Amino acid sequence: MQPTPKHHNGTRSIYLETFGCQMNELDSELVQDQLVALGFVFMDDRDRADVVLFNTCSVREQAENKVLSRVGELGIEKKNGREIVVGMLGCLPEREGQRLLGRFPQVDFICGPSELDRLPTLLNNAITGIVLKISERAALQGNRSRRSSTLSAAKDNLELLDLARAFNPDHRKTGGRSAYVRITRGCNKFCTYCVVPNTRGAEVHRPPDSIIEECQKLVESGAIEVTLLGQTVNHYRYTHGVALNSEGREVPQIGPGLTAFKKPLDNSQRITTFANLLQRIHDEVPKIQRLRFVTSYPRDFQDDILEVMRDCPRICNYLHVPAQSGSNRILQLMNRGYTVEEYLDFIDRARTIIPDVEIAGDIIVGFPTETDEDFMETESLIRTVRFKNNFVFSYSPRPSTVAIDRYMDDVPRETKLERVNHLLKVGGEISGEVHQTYEGKVVDVFVERISPKSERNNNGVELRWRESTVQLSGRTPGDLICVFDVYSKKEAHSLIGSIVPVTVIGSAPLLLKGILSRDNMAI
Ligand code: 5AD
Ligand code: SF4
Repeated sequence: MQPTPKHHNGTRSIYLETFGCQMNELDSELVQDQLVALGFVFMDDRDRADVVLFNTCSVREQAENKVLSRVGELGIEKKNGREIVVGMLGCLPEREGQRLLGRFPQVDFICGPSELDRLPTLLNNAITGIVLKISERAALQGNRSRRSSTLSAAKDNLELLDLARAFNPDHRKTGGRSAYVRITRGCNKFCTYCVVPNTRGAEVHRPPDSIIEECQKLVESGAIEVTLLGQTVNHYRYTHGVALNSEGREVPQIGPGLTAFKKPLDNSQRITTFANLLQRIHDEVPKIQRLRFVTSYPRDFQDDILEVMRDCPRICNYLHVPAQSGSNRILQLMNRGYTVEEYLDFIDRARTIIPDVEIAGDIIVGFPTETDEDFMETESLIRTVRFKNNFVFSYSPRPSTVAIDRYMDDVPRETKLERVNHLLKVGGEISGEVHQTYEGKVVDVFVERISPKSERNNNGVELRWRESTVQLSGRTPGDLICVFDVYSKKEAHSLIGSIVPVTVIGSAPLLLKGILSRDNMAI
């Protein structure tokens, strides 16, 4: 595609803002790679860009409102004569459909998360100003036909998008040293509150060889940390020999149903499980110094995965495994497919097999019919599990979910708010205690960035009497945030993207504070 140049130097600038989860962050990276390869440049200034793209999230109403207010602002600017192309990508357009274009005429095109390979064409049409019908300005999964069988998944151009990523470290966080790799797309768990199965479609699993190839390319371009992404990573399961493309290469396939995990593995087929995949990546891509994965599902997380985590030193001892509620009645209404007892059994197994594992979780409060007793059970679960941190969300009814049709959103706003605040307080106390246990220990920190507080100091907002030190922020293998000071910006930049030993001298609910342990540093 040849975008029509606007400036004499032939480049068009794009401002891309990303909302929501890590899947969206990865999608945005791929979008950026794709468009940079076509000659676009990306910039941080929304006011000067020729094109504004929003990669949206639809999981909670708040996330949608945020992006819609940005779109509203651009509508006013367009009315006032600003020439700009506006595109909305991701889950919100997928959920809302073409009517979004009717509601917001300032939006030139929309593109769902499963159609990002069609983005260059949509963008080109918008730039060249061809007048198109609404349906031609929308790329949406819609009827799901693209995901209806192994064969259509096999033809999936999205797989090519992942495989063709540019591996260009320039525009990545942590100097290109940390990267996401998708292992599955979509979800078919159908938790009643969740839009994801509607917006991202049925679960499709990528072939292990493609995943490993991507990891290899990433380390060759400098990555040392890889985070595998999937909605329920432990449900990864790839059956070999089912479908190949014309070049004889394995292609993505629809994930097995939940019942597959109740039965023993079928020995007549060659299957790569999540445990096998972790082991292969660990062994075949030794340059990955940290291998992580999110998000885990509390069901069907067998011991073999925990044992691989324990036995492979470069796999981080960290699990993000949302409980969502501590009440069996609510879990059932949520269609989560497990009981509190089963969740706690999983946590017990994890801590027995990997004693130093850190666990993070998600909780939704105020789900329809949630009583004080249900809520107290959730509090009790949080106290039992002792999450290193626990994200708390207020239930938000989402269009096209089962819950919105089936249950009245009957917990008052104030009650939801009180419950959120209470759990944040309890969770904060527990996180504080978890973080405190690290005091006096030396931890390996993957240095991610100059901490925002330090940036403020250096911009003169909080000027100190003497030249301030620079504070760096990074993460331990268990995903605890750790900050420490170095003496100059030059040193700070040289450490970003590396793993350094830090002695922990203090802690807070969401933070370790340490001193760079220079004696223990590999020179
Ligand atoms: N309302 C509130 N929270 C939600 N989540 C997902 N859907 C909703 C909803 N409708 C939360 C869940 C999930 C996290 C990513 O967002 O806790 O794990
Ligand atoms: Fe949504 Fe449930 Fe799938 Fe998670 S497992 S993405 S909450 S449907």
